[in-house]
Amino acid sequence: MVIPMRKTTLTFIVLGIVIGVAASLIADEVDHYTSSDAFCGGSCHSMQAYVVNDAVYQHSAHRTSGTGIIAGCADCHMPARGLLAKSWAHVKGGVKDVWAELVNDFQDPKVWEARRTQLAYGVRDAMLADDSANCRSCHDMRKIAVAGEQGQREHARSFADKTTCIQCHYNLVHAPVPARDGFAAMMR
Ligand code: HEC
Ligand code: HEC
Ligand code: HEC
Repeated sequence: MVIPMRKTTLTFIVLGIVIGVAASLIADEVDHYTSSDAFCGGSCHSMQAYVVNDAVYQHSAHRTSGTGIIAGCADCHMPARGLLAKSWAHVKGGVKDVWAELVNDFQDPKVWEARRTQLAYGVRDAMLADDSANCRSCHDMRKIAVAGEQGQREHARSFADKTTCIQCHYNLVHAPVPARDGFAAMMR
């Protein structure tokens, strides 16, 4: 049977829409699953042992504030918006992380500690580059009522010189790593 041209075109359009919707629903599901703390913090021995079980992390304000809001790994480490951006970040990060797990013996805490410093700098640089977009997905700088005087001064200054959150609030939830140039020499 010869299907008339218009019908073929229509079939392709409908098929395209169905496949497109299905693909984005699947991508959304995969994103949810791979963004969970169970996945990010539990899939690799190193994350479970050194990041999730770390006392600094467990006691950080982002887990214990009493506001009822608990910042998950992905809230700080995955793009806050855009399914395409998120999916790409999962693929890129996933390949990199699995490779790192394969070629390094992270069972040895010394190997992990050496690597951790590099990773921390990488995360800070990324946050510096995107103006701490993940922090801003929860915090509105103009609405933060800083209690102390130093903080009020620093926040006022940051509006003027465009300093971004991570330049001052590094060592936020994980065991401390020393600051490098470009990051304020201060704070926990
Ligand atoms: C409130 C934000 C926040 C949350 C929640 C968070 N991180 Fe981080 N993470 C950071 C920041 C900021 C850095 C950069 C290093 C620093 O200054 O602490 C970082 C660094 C890291 C590093 C690099 C090594 C290190 O110790 O610095 C790893 C790995 C990491 N995070 C994994 C995780 C995992 C896994 C989770 C969830 C179990 C998580 N993070 C939750 C903000 C966060
Ligand atoms: C999922 C939402 C969320 C994200 C993402 C997030 N925060 Fe928070 N943050 C909170 C909540 C909730 C509190 C606790 C507020 C309270 O105790 O009243 C908090 C507290 C803080 C505090 C005060 C407590 C402390 O640890 O000193 C700072 C500073 C802070 N956040 C900075 C950041 C920075 C910098 C980032 C990005 C790296 C970030 N936050 C990402 C929700 C978030
Ligand atoms: C120029 C440095 C600087 C920048 C940039 C900066 N802060 Fe702060 N912030 C401070 C200091 C200093 C304090 C007071 C000390 C403290 O509470 O740890 C503070 C306090 C806070 C507090 C606690 C408020 C309170 O008193 O309970 C939060 C939350 C916070 N900052 C979030 C952020 C977020 C989110 C960003 C980015 C949108 C940001 N800050 C940018 C220096 C900075």
